[in-house]
Amino acid sequence: MEKRAALSHFQPHGVLISDAAGRPARRAFTEAVLQPGRPLHELAAPFARVIAEEAAGLPSAATLDWDTFNVTWWRVVRRVVLGSAARDDTTLTDQLERLRLDANWAYAHPKRKQLREEFRRRLTGHLDRAEPGSLAAVIAATDAVDAPDQVAHWLFAFDAAGMATYRTLALLASHPAEQDRARSEIDGTEPAQLSYLRACVLESVRLWPTTPMILRETTEETAWGPAGTTVLIFTPFFHRDPGLPYADRFEPDLWLDGRAAENPALVPFSAGPAICPGRDLVQFCASTMLAALLRDHGYEQASGPVLSPERPLPATLDNFHLKLKPVG
Ligand code: HEM
Repeated sequence: MEKRAALSHFQPHGVLISDAAGRPARRAFTEAVLQPGRPLHELAAPFARVIAEEAAGLPSAATLDWDTFNVTWWRVVRRVVLGSAARDDTTLTDQLERLRLDANWAYAHPKRKQLREEFRRRLTGHLDRAEPGSLAAVIAATDAVDAPDQVAHWLFAFDAAGMATYRTLALLASHPAEQDRARSEIDGTEPAQLSYLRACVLESVRLWPTTPMILRETTEETAWGPAGTTVLIFTPFFHRDPGLPYADRFEPDLWLDGRAAENPALVPFSAGPAICPGRDLVQFCASTMLAALLRDHGYEQASGPVLSPERPLPATLDNFHLKLKPVG
């Protein structure tokens, strides 16, 4: 109920807020296009080219700040999802941002029908182009179910992916041994399945989940109450369980050596039938962007909260004020 009230501001027919009848077809469409379970999406090669081109536009010798990174990230997102013709359509993503701000107020904010219609018209225009090398082309070749509403969710969710990517870079900048290991994985192959960098991204989302609250409604009576009871799973409670030896440390290896797989309470991308279908695409885009940034030099932290292997990592991380300086 909560999710529906919030998300209906910009994606009333999105898979995440569908009822039991509408859900299977929307989920199937989403999986067909986003291709979870494939570390390399069928369009990984053109996506890697887009990421390399946009990363090359970042000033390589200057200190990197969030605003600069975020502009580049959104160019990548619009190109990957909608095609290069959408690269500079900041109006589209600004409109979505305004609708999302309303969504935070859920039922307490009236719906802006006109803005939603304008956003949808603009988005549909991009999807209709079905530009080769973009998700829009895959959509055009798939049995689409309320495509603009599904894509509105994808665009919105890519915001979290940008934050996770930038926070991963901050972790690497403050953990020299892990940064060296990540850099040694980058050999210029494109597209590449960068296992260690992907594990670093998962670690960033474990430490600072971008979806810290997973909501469910029970369908039958449970120990917590009658059917229809809302259950809130607060993931930081589990991800930072003081009983875990790695709770407050940056430890990418746990995603590679089986420790994360053994612990069902680590759910950076959720779990079960609603597990994030964008998880592989996110890890691909994030790790490829990080590889592009780290190929020629490393980074160290220039400002922001202290992140260090010597002390517990903070419970939250404000990415907006983090600055990272190139070194080496
Ligand atoms: C760091 C980035 C991201 C994280 C941490 C993340 C995490 C999550 C989580 C935790 C859920 C499940 C919510 C629940 O169980 O109720 C979810 C659902 C979803 N995510 Fe992501 N997500 C990310 C980015 C993306 C991206 C970029 C896309 C699309 C390209 C995407 C597509 C979706 C969709 C469609 C759902 C709804 C699935 C359903 O209801 O069946 N996500 N995501």
